Amino acid sequence: MEEHEVYPIIGSEGFARLVAAFYRQVPGDDLLGPMYPADDFPGAEQRLRDFLIYRFGGPPLYIEQRGHPRLRMRHAPFPIGQGARDRWVQLMDRALDEAAFPADVQQLLRAFFGAMATFLVNRPGH
Ligand code: HEM
Repeated sequence: MEEHEVYPIIGSEGFARLVAAFYRQVPGDDLLGPMYPADDFPGAEQRLRDFLIYRFGGPPLYIEQRGHPRLRMRHAPFPIGQGARDRWVQLMDRALDEAAFPADVQQLLRAFFGAMATFLVNRPGH
């Protein structure tokens, strides 16, 4: 399966469901919760959802609103060590379980999130 084939299968609704399941866990998380904007969780949810829709073959809403993703640069203000990386992946794995997508979609997204989270580590010693 190719990345651009994911959107036609799960649609905006699937990504909305996934990202909602992820963000439901964030405010209460001791490590990640404090990093996110307490007054703008809906905005953060929308940015991640639109990015994923664009990245996996859907309409480029993210690009229209935010421009080039530059995710490493955009994550620079947040101290992402191995611990934060693993926690993020753990919460997203739970969200993927909850979303119950077809197995091939689930597998592709799991691999993508793991690799991208590793790429975003910017405080390797932490
Ligand atoms: C490795 C652990 C990670 C941490 C601790 C982390 C943390 C954060 C935080 C605190 C924000 C700001 C929330 C906002 O206002 O939008 C953010 C934004 C964002 N993150 Fe992450 N993130 C991680 C991994 C990822 C991964 C793996 C992806 C890609 C799938 C991702 C995609 C995004 C996107 C698209 C935004 C919005 C960027 C923007 O347009 O400003 N993040 N992240």
